[in-house]
Amino acid sequence: MAEIVPADKALDRALALLGAGEVVAIPTETVYGLAGDATSGGAVARIYEAKGRPRFNPLIAHVCDLAMAERIGVFDPLSRRLAELFWPGPLTLVVPLKADAGIHPLATAGLDTIALRMPRGFGGKLIAALGRPLAAPSANTSGHISSTSAGAVAADLGSRIKLVVDGGATPVGVESTIVKVHDGKLKLLRPGGVAAEEIEAAIGLKLERGAKGIQAPGMMASHYAPNAAMRLRAVSVDQGEALLAFGATRAKGAENAAAVRNLSPSGDLREAATNLFSFMLELDRAGASVIAVEPIPMEGLGEAINDRLARAAAPRDMEAAGE
Ligand code: TXA
Ligand code: MG
Repeated sequence: MAEIVPADKALDRALALLGAGEVVAIPTETVYGLAGDATSGGAVARIYEAKGRPRFNPLIAHVCDLAMAERIGVFDPLSRRLAELFWPGPLTLVVPLKADAGIHPLATAGLDTIALRMPRGFGGKLIAALGRPLAAPSANTSGHISSTSAGAVAADLGSRIKLVVDGGATPVGVESTIVKVHDGKLKLLRPGGVAAEEIEAAIGLKLERGAKGIQAPGMMASHYAPNAAMRLRAVSVDQGEALLAFGATRAKGAENAAAVRNLSPSGDLREAATNLFSFMLELDRAGASVIAVEPIPMEGLGEAINDRLARAAAPRDMEAAGE
């Protein structure tokens, strides 16, 4: 079983494991990541193995500063500006991969682009101390709910990894926003922890949502799947259903729900994002076969929340390649 060590005591042990090509679960501001040396084929293979993740689904390389990022990827002026504005933080930039970047091809699934992100907190310190980028997908079994606490990581992956670094509950709660500059336009590949409106306001450019379907290779329809079925935009609760609530007004029949969690009683979308995955897990554990979900507005972090809920509710036979 994995050892859970508080972040302020874990740096040396994490460094030793990473240096030996092992994987370590670490806190980031978005969700917990399952980290390994991005330059080591063995370490990257261990990440895919521990998650049961299809190898055609590339990983984000995490860096500790812009200099490290620019040794790996080619930054056009807009991507650089975004990095300067939002790093460290919950924004991932997809840029062309440099030929001599040193990233193991397994981490990029052979693509000629790379997803880069500079995380806040423990991850940044760890990467600086290691002196190499860390490949890190969310620390969950492929297709499961992303982990927002060390306990959730240990419950899901504990038998397959040696160390979970405990940095407490992750403050943002949903994964990073992924964007890519293409032909001078900015494409949103995955809504996430930075609201699209915030990016648009900062750079004065509209984000393109692009065609429907798979945006990032790992964005399969069914993902984040709890055991229970999810019923979205519920205005009433049926007999035996659990309820994932939002805001001050309740769905009809809420008083009879098998269990209730309110993402944000005051209707704050940031608070709702922070609570999303842990409340989904808690309702799932309560044992109801259906989780009814009240409507969540499509603004700010609501876009990422609705994206994750839609994937959690998607038919499971589409679960070909979760993250
Ligand atoms: O907040 C986050 O982004 C977390 C923390 C741990 O950093 N990480 C995370 O990683 O969510 P993961 O592997 O669960 O999701 C990364 C997504 C996948 O959908 C993958 O397909 C996509 O990024 N991706 C990776 N490289 C890409 C590339 N070169 N082009 C387009 N999409 C890419
Ligand atoms: Mg994931």
